[in-house]
Amino acid sequence: MDYKEFVEEQIGSLKKEVGQGVAINALSGGVDSSVVTVLGHRALGDRLRTVFIDSALMREGEPQRVVQTFAQMKIPVRLVDARADFLKALKGLTDPEEKRNAVTKTFYSTVFGRLVRETGAKFLLHGTILTDIEETVAGIKRQHNILSQLGIDPEKEYGYKVLEPLKTLRKDGVREVAKVLGMPPDVTQRIPFPGPALATRVVGEVTEERLAVVRAATAIVEEELKDTGAFQYLAVLLNDRATGIVEGKREFGQIIVVRCLHSVDARTATSVDLPWEKLHRICKRVTAIKGVNRCLYDITPKPPATIEYI
Ligand code: XMP
Repeated sequence: MDYKEFVEEQIGSLKKEVGQGVAINALSGGVDSSVVTVLGHRALGDRLRTVFIDSALMREGEPQRVVQTFAQMKIPVRLVDARADFLKALKGLTDPEEKRNAVTKTFYSTVFGRLVRETGAKFLLHGTILTDIEETVAGIKRQHNILSQLGIDPEKEYGYKVLEPLKTLRKDGVREVAKVLGMPPDVTQRIPFPGPALATRVVGEVTEERLAVVRAATAIVEEELKDTGAFQYLAVLLNDRATGIVEGKREFGQIIVVRCLHSVDARTATSVDLPWEKLHRICKRVTAIKGVNRCLYDITPKPPATIEYI
């Protein structure tokens, strides 16, 4: 594919579709939404309002990092604090699909509904990619960012039209587009991070306390594995507990699972043969998090597993 041509085409069709209207997009800092943000700004300038929604589900320091990175590209990003909305919607839920559904609804209906009313935006730009659509259609997963494929009419239900300029590409294609757009490697080479964010990595109820544990483990895992060149690496908090000994006392503690995977497009993945020394280091650091006394390395490929746990 000629990615330069692709970029020109998408810019042209965004201009045509949005006309003199206002569009809004949510930036998560991941490759897909970052590329959509730059593409959208090239097409629409300040008629595209970019927001970063702090859902309480993001990684350590992420909101500030994202705003800063885009400020360097001269793209203003508004930080919206919606932590309370998401935590309230997730309260008491343990079923994976119900949790995904709660995040989707809070994102598109509660938070976006509010922002759309405020800004008068009629269009929402979204970084849906082909893999998201295929897996939703195949019934493997209800992806967070697919509405029409799920039979939801966002215009009727939420009052805006969703535009998905990357929906014919896979992750590798999105990275090519990022290169054409001249985006910095620290944005384009970032490992994938799912839309529902850390909610996909907390098995069982998603609470502020449990998020804090998985967030701390994620920071360790990302730091330790950033030089592996792997496609994706992550930490998951299980809903089980295990007995351990902390400071000479018995503790019924939390269990963290580490994943580190090779993949080209996320459709299939295999685990990375990490050196034992590295695994021991990660284990030591993860079990130093308060309340965590087990750290497991999950070597299951996709399939039969998926990359995330929810
Ligand atoms: P799974 O867990 O299905 O994930 O093997 C495949 C890839 O997609 C990411 N992922 C998502 N990305 N919204 C997204 O934008 C989502 O709801 C979502 N769920 C999973 C996951 O991180 C992996 O790279």
